[in-house]
Amino acid sequence: MPNYANRVSTFGTTIFTEINDLALEYQAVNLGQGRPDFDGPREVVEALAHAALDISGVNQYAPGPGTPDLREGIARHAQRFYNLDVDAMQGTLVTPGATEAIFCSIMGLVDPGEEVIIIEPFFDSYPPGVIMANAKPVYVPLHPPDWTLDPAELRAAFNKNTRAIIINTPNNPTGRVFTRDELQMIADLCQEFDVICISDEVYEHLVYEGYQHTPIATLPGMFERTVAVGSAGKTFGMTGWKIGWVYGHPNLIAGVRRAHQFVSFATNHPAQKAVAHAFTIDTGYFEEYQTLYMQKRALMMQALDAAGLKSIQPEGTYFVMADFSDVFEGDDVAFSKHLITEIGVAAIPPMAFFSEPHKYLTSNYVRFSFCKNDETLRAAGERMAKLKG
Ligand SMILES: Cc1ncc(COP(=O)(O)O)c(C=O)c1O
Repeated sequence: MPNYANRVSTFGTTIFTEINDLALEYQAVNLGQGRPDFDGPREVVEALAHAALDISGVNQYAPGPGTPDLREGIARHAQRFYNLDVDAMQGTLVTPGATEAIFCSIMGLVDPGEEVIIIEPFFDSYPPGVIMANAKPVYVPLHPPDWTLDPAELRAAFNKNTRAIIINTPNNPTGRVFTRDELQMIADLCQEFDVICISDEVYEHLVYEGYQHTPIATLPGMFERTVAVGSAGKTFGMTGWKIGWVYGHPNLIAGVRRAHQFVSFATNHPAQKAVAHAFTIDTGYFEEYQTLYMQKRALMMQALDAAGLKSIQPEGTYFVMADFSDVFEGDDVAFSKHLITEIGVAAIPPMAFFSEPHKYLTSNYVRFSFCKNDETLRAAGERMAKLKG
């Protein structure tokens, strides 16, 4: 008897696990996984403790679609930042992390045999989600060094069997923030081919000076066909809580809710109360968050420069792709292993974010995460300076 179903037979152990294990073995400074080594606002952690201790019924199941206060917070946030009119009760859904939100969006909206366009590099849960829905992933890469789409390649991916496109802006791992023109090109094709857009915007508040995050749902004709995805892990720095959400037109959210009912049914109740509280914090929070990460980005860029790694300053997110071809001969996996075992720093080989035919595009890059304490970033910088020597 086989040990697993066909649908999971291609899902091996991820490179993240391999790199994390190696990093642990060599006590490397870990700039691999996007896992902050500090917490979000204390006030929000206190709200979690208060909820668990003091609010009656909060340690039992939450309402399936999410607590009303958090759903109102999500709708208010979309109004405040993007001027979007979201129906808090029918147009939002709280999920255990953005990962479940994306999975349920695919399961609830895509039929077997339909095609789903995935822009690469992708967050690694997208292809398995599409495969588990018995749909077909169709890959369109962003091209280095500036990580842009080829309009002809994008158009060629759309056809009458395309049901959805999954986009991610601000983009992990490239740090790109899609321009309005790029989003308009995607939106025009979605409308021409009657395609829905699953828009992963978990880094919506991590955008640096000179750039602006535009939700694709704000483009004319797109609200009706977009499921926007968010995460408290990113927005409030609490990745361990696994609170995510979707919002959009009630007609689309209804499908996502149907799937969610039977994937997890409901999401951590005390953490939802705390995130609902986080949404009431003044906008000053988001500015401070950006300032904090501007400083971390500067430390990261100094470290890469001193190490002789070439990179374009990220426009958003806490990730940066660095080209190591001046200091190492070999591919991204070989360099990541060299970096851990010889230099003592862990980074991720981006082949994990590309389909097989497109892995060559990033074979001379690695991804660093800079959601780390300044001391951690400085320590990584000191170690990596050896690369140049
Ligand atoms: C682009 C992107 N989407 C989704 C997620 C998953 O978010 P969550 O932890 O809320 O499931 C991540 C986490 O790293 C991410 O980088």
